[in-house]
Amino acid sequence: MNVYSTIVLNGLIVIISFYVYKSYSALNIIDLTELNKCPFCYGKTACTNLFNGNIKMNSSTSNIFYNLINLVLNSKNVYYGSYKHQSSYKDIVVKKLANDNELKNFDTYIRTRFGVYSNFQKMEKNFKTEISKFLTTSTNDVDVKLKLCPDPHAFDILLPDGHDLSSEEYIHFYTMLYVNPEPILMQILNASHGWPVPHFYGSCGRLVIVENCGTRISSLMDSDWCHRAKLARDILHLAHNLTYLHDRLSVYLTDVSLDNLVVSEEGVVKIVDLEHTIVVDRHPSSTDLPQSWFLPHHSYHQSCDNCFAYSADEVCAHRISDHNFYAVCKEVLSNTTTLGHQWLLHSPPPSLHGETSLLSSLIESCVDPPPGVLRKNVAAQIIQTIDQALLEKC
Ligand SMILES: Nc1ncnc2c1ncn2[C@@H]1O[C@H](COP(=O)(O)OP(=O)(O)O)[C@@H](O)[C@H]1O
Ligand SMILES: [Mg+2]
Repeated sequence: MNVYSTIVLNGLIVIISFYVYKSYSALNIIDLTELNKCPFCYGKTACTNLFNGNIKMNSSTSNIFYNLINLVLNSKNVYYGSYKHQSSYKDIVVKKLANDNELKNFDTYIRTRFGVYSNFQKMEKNFKTEISKFLTTSTNDVDVKLKLCPDPHAFDILLPDGHDLSSEEYIHFYTMLYVNPEPILMQILNASHGWPVPHFYGSCGRLVIVENCGTRISSLMDSDWCHRAKLARDILHLAHNLTYLHDRLSVYLTDVSLDNLVVSEEGVVKIVDLEHTIVVDRHPSSTDLPQSWFLPHHSYHQSCDNCFAYSADEVCAHRISDHNFYAVCKEVLSNTTTLGHQWLLHSPPPSLHGETSLLSSLIESCVDPPPGVLRKNVAAQIIQTIDQALLEKC
């Protein structure tokens, strides 16, 4: 390397370090809330805890490290921190639910659509009709991230405890539906009732505070086979529970991946990215339903390179679908995931080769079932085979 390139390189390092240092010193949890954007924000329930210092970012060296990486990559604005609650500390994730560009686009949309200019707080419009309109939108310009079926107008089912909300709360609800409906689902599927989603600790402006549920499974691909087998089994249980266990709703995951599934130190598996889902009300009040609604839906496997193809309209048109089993088998368990990770159950110990080849063929038939074979039954067989292997060999 000649003297000239050394000088350029050192100059670059100084500029980047300065940029990172400047951005990092500006990383302040209060500024991140953007409370001036309310009521077009996610709510205010966590503001008191945030302002009195119970909610903090950068509470440990590893948090500083992750937050710094996040800042440099300017990804989805996910930060790590801690929440002091009744004299104990909980590990939390602080999320803006979208990247800066997406939030800017939302602000522009609000300004042009509703004529709100400098002061967002002047908005007092009744947003009930706007919510209905938004959920039934079917243009290519607007991405409806939570698809509610069979009747998108019947969104009362998504409101906390079925309450009527204040006009401000309806605007929060609208904002979350538009930007990222994750907090709505975390509240419907309450983690305190055992649902495999993060605990929701509240929101403050454009921030939500949720439980840190552990390590993403994509980073555990080199862990012991028995550990990975337990994870695979628990992910299938998660697919089953989201489909069948809620008394009204089936929640179908359309962006399930080894990055969006995490596991805690205690071994609890949760789905942490609920931005894109299909929510089916299995007992709608409408009586005007076709006979086909009552027939189970079987997702049709279309092989495509580096993609996951499914029909949201088809899933929506049936009371029950095998979509979650399909998504998990295709995007988490098989060796043909969109993210291109290797097979979750790779490298079995030699004594488990028999079980592993059985599991491999079961997973293949879960992705693309032979005629007459139901994914739900194949998933149950996979769970049973793993349980047997864990009992005998792990
Ligand atoms: N509640 C959480 N607990 C632990 N890790 C989380 C949590 N939420 C997000 N993460 C981590 O942050 C990553 C990005 O968050 P995510 O909500 O998936 O945003 P994106 O829409 O960018 O994929 C996830 O893949 C996961 O590793
Ligand atoms: Mg994600």
